[in-house]
Amino acid sequence: HLREQAPQRRAHPPSRYLIGPMRILFLASEAAPLVKVGGLADVAGSLPKALRALGHDVRVAIPGYGAIDWPALQPSRRARFEILHAGGPQVAEIYETSAGGVPYFLVTGPPIPKDGRIYGSGIEEDGPKFIFFSLAALWGCQALGWMPQVVHANDWHTGAAIYWLATEGRKSDSFRTVASLFTIHNLPYRGEGAGRALAEYGLPASDLSRALPQRLSDSLLGLALISAEVLTAVSPTYAREILTPEGGHGLDGILRARRDRLTGVLNGIDTDIWNPETDAALAVAYNARTLQRRAGNKRALQQEAGLALEDRPILAVVSRLDPQKGLDIAAPAVWRWIERGGQFVLLGTGRQELEREFAAIERANPGQASVRLRFDGPYAHRIYAGADMMAIPSRYEPCGLTQMIAMRYGAVPVARRTGGLADTVTDAGDPNGTGLMFDEYSSAAFWDALERARRVYADPKQWRELQKRGMQSDFSWSRSAAEYSALYERARALRGGAP
Ligand code: GLC
Repeated sequence: HLREQAPQRRAHPPSRYLIGPMRILFLASEAAPLVKVGGLADVAGSLPKALRALGHDVRVAIPGYGAIDWPALQPSRRARFEILHAGGPQVAEIYETSAGGVPYFLVTGPPIPKDGRIYGSGIEEDGPKFIFFSLAALWGCQALGWMPQVVHANDWHTGAAIYWLATEGRKSDSFRTVASLFTIHNLPYRGEGAGRALAEYGLPASDLSRALPQRLSDSLLGLALISAEVLTAVSPTYAREILTPEGGHGLDGILRARRDRLTGVLNGIDTDIWNPETDAALAVAYNARTLQRRAGNKRALQQEAGLALEDRPILAVVSRLDPQKGLDIAAPAVWRWIERGGQFVLLGTGRQELEREFAAIERANPGQASVRLRFDGPYAHRIYAGADMMAIPSRYEPCGLTQMIAMRYGAVPVARRTGGLADTVTDAGDPNGTGLMFDEYSSAAFWDALERARRVYADPKQWRELQKRGMQSDFSWSRSAAEYSALYERARALRGGAP
């Protein structure tokens, strides 16, 4: 690191770098609007757009699942080639389409599901699926005659691409100078147990994999963490949390050893899609100057959700019902919230025990609680525009997008101070406050924050100020996209590919 970086740094301070346009291959297992399960898809759908706006030639590769709406997109086949496998060669095909002005490569082949499945039941299914995808995406570029200068890969599903670049790729004339940047969106998902599939695709154990803790030596995430030229996490606080044994899930040692390569870069949101002034899903358009109009959306939400048209604060949840999201500590506080005269709205799907718990809250509180256990994009927009507060009690949160969307729409986040939530929400106790924060992971601490929210809400002037500051915060991608540009340049210098 010292040999490669220090002299260059001195000769060209980063601030004087003129970062030229680069060819960047962006790899992810999902990208909105083509295919979405969680926040990863939102990032893969919006960051490449922001990078293209900076002049980079970014192309996104995702698996060409059957779940994608092929008839609507009409992708055209651009390449067909073989990926070697111990059981015999497998034919890969690359289809090209575009979304939001960004070119997409859809990678198909035997391990990529043709039915509605996206993620499978375990590493036996997902290991081969995502290793095949990763390798075929790289080779596809060569087949298309479009060689990236940087591969930006995301989460464990794309780890094999980074590992391949660091091992086999060094022996290849086409890939020797291709630099890699790997982004951590969710560290606990490590993709371990992929050793056999890796070997079958010609990626056996190596000095790199042997440097990982033994039980994680065939974790696709671990292999990416040890192989990438540059690492990022999706918020500065999360980048620090994963260096600790508590947040590191067995990979903190490797991350500490490579901490000079790791930067936290905060996600943004797509401010064209999330804009209360132009959002076609809403009953009434508004902005920070016409905040009084927002009341029309609250009324419309009460109507749509089947809540009594009464003057009560609405607390809302839009979330996957997953242990990560902290809804187990939220439930008891929600019962109490309704008892004390608040209303409650939830939209989301996930764990059965949580679905049951929230369905019970609705049943016991007709007219005051509304729980919809499904995925509904437009309704989510109307919740952000109509609710007074959003509950975000996450156990951990690498970045979180809900809180940024909520603030942009004037719904005040009541959030736990962890990961990206700590980096984006400021507590109302501060003159620049934009939300209500709590620390301890417990129902009692969450309840205290709700009570504080309630008190601020009772003072309309103070509440409006809180809403306005949130609405006027900048959550666009532009700054983060510039940070990524500089990190791509750094990755190229480390790989030996930059001028
Ligand atoms: C994962 C994380 C979430 C983050 C998203 C996008 O879903 O859990 O916190 O916002 O990735 O980076």
